[in-house]
Amino acid sequence: MFLTREDEAMLNGEYGQGPEIAMSILVKLGDMYGADRMLKIENVHIDGAAYGWINDAGLELVEKLSSSGARFRVPATLNPSSIDFDMWKELDIPSHVAKKQLRLAKALKEMGAIPTWTCAPYQYGADLRFGQNVAWGESNAVGFANTVVGARTERLGDLADVCTAVVGKYPNFGLYLDENRRGQILFESDKLKLDTFDSADYGVLGFFVGSVAQERVPVITGIPRNIATDQLKSFCAASAVGGSVALSHLCGVTPEAKTVAEACRGSKPEERITIEDNELEKTRQKLSTVSEEHPEVICLGCPHCSVQELVKLACIMRGKKVKRDVRLLVFTSRAAKTLADDMGAIEAIESTGGKVVADTCWNFVPLDAKTLMTDSVKMAWTSLSKFTNVALGSLERCAEAAVGARL
Ligand code: F3S
Repeated sequence: MFLTREDEAMLNGEYGQGPEIAMSILVKLGDMYGADRMLKIENVHIDGAAYGWINDAGLELVEKLSSSGARFRVPATLNPSSIDFDMWKELDIPSHVAKKQLRLAKALKEMGAIPTWTCAPYQYGADLRFGQNVAWGESNAVGFANTVVGARTERLGDLADVCTAVVGKYPNFGLYLDENRRGQILFESDKLKLDTFDSADYGVLGFFVGSVAQERVPVITGIPRNIATDQLKSFCAASAVGGSVALSHLCGVTPEAKTVAEACRGSKPEERITIEDNELEKTRQKLSTVSEEHPEVICLGCPHCSVQELVKLACIMRGKKVKRDVRLLVFTSRAAKTLADDMGAIEAIESTGGKVVADTCWNFVPLDAKTLMTDSVKMAWTSLSKFTNVALGSLERCAEAAVGARL
């Protein structure tokens, strides 16, 4: 891989021990993936911000970088941590986890991290523009950056993201290259009634597209231009777990894909698929193992709820009570929670018995239950091994179930 004089200087320790460690890791990664050079990066979203994901070895590396004096060269936002910093005790997070998370937070913030603690940084905290080279971790955020904004990012692994923030560079491979952004498989959605789709439906669509496309770049026609940001969030999160999609060309929505020809860079798609309702129904059944079950836990906010989602939930729940044997947990960012709190939405949700959790991810909260209900395809799919029964429904259906209606 070609290295500039500055890259070499970092590698040789002329910028200090932190950049030396970070650059040596990134050069090895670049060599492994056949990168030709290092690319300047404008911002980073750090997936490895949770102690629960990076464990002791990761904590050791981050603390070593920080104590060696390394500082982030570009803005870096943070994915959810392992704790809600205000109420981890109330959520039964073990204190040894909290202590290590607090150490990790200290080290990251010393290096200059922006403490967003959210998996939807594109809604609150990050600065994204079309055509930028950025370096993001967290699959839904990677998908959103590439698909919705048209920024360019590969899928960064834990700790490669921290190293990238330290040097402000990442190897040039994968989705940074024009040829790898070419649409390969075409999905036509003309037979679907997309104007009636809610966020959970877009999740099912995303999961279906991902499971068929797998490693290929999908192109989808017929998506309404006025699709809501929360629906795009749901689509991107689900397509990343259905396959390993990090870029979808939604014709007319994705800035670099106004038409199929533009999405495919002038070549023909390898395959053409007309999406039928029954295919989506089969996908929904795969994700939702029960349809008429009483949920013990209802979880919303995977990816994190926006202010709009919190307000919508508050409007549905206002004046009602969550059933005594049901736990309603709503995950969001600290920024969204603060704004929604100012609007009275948090009080409205919590006075019903629901709990709005910030800074963290449902994966880190002990949920002693057999039956889960969620509006998130990503959560439904990834929790199938943790829960005996999983029910997928819209935010409205989840709210109804929480206050006593049968699913
Ligand atoms: Fe976010 Fe955790 Fe879901 S990081 S996308 S809430 S799995």
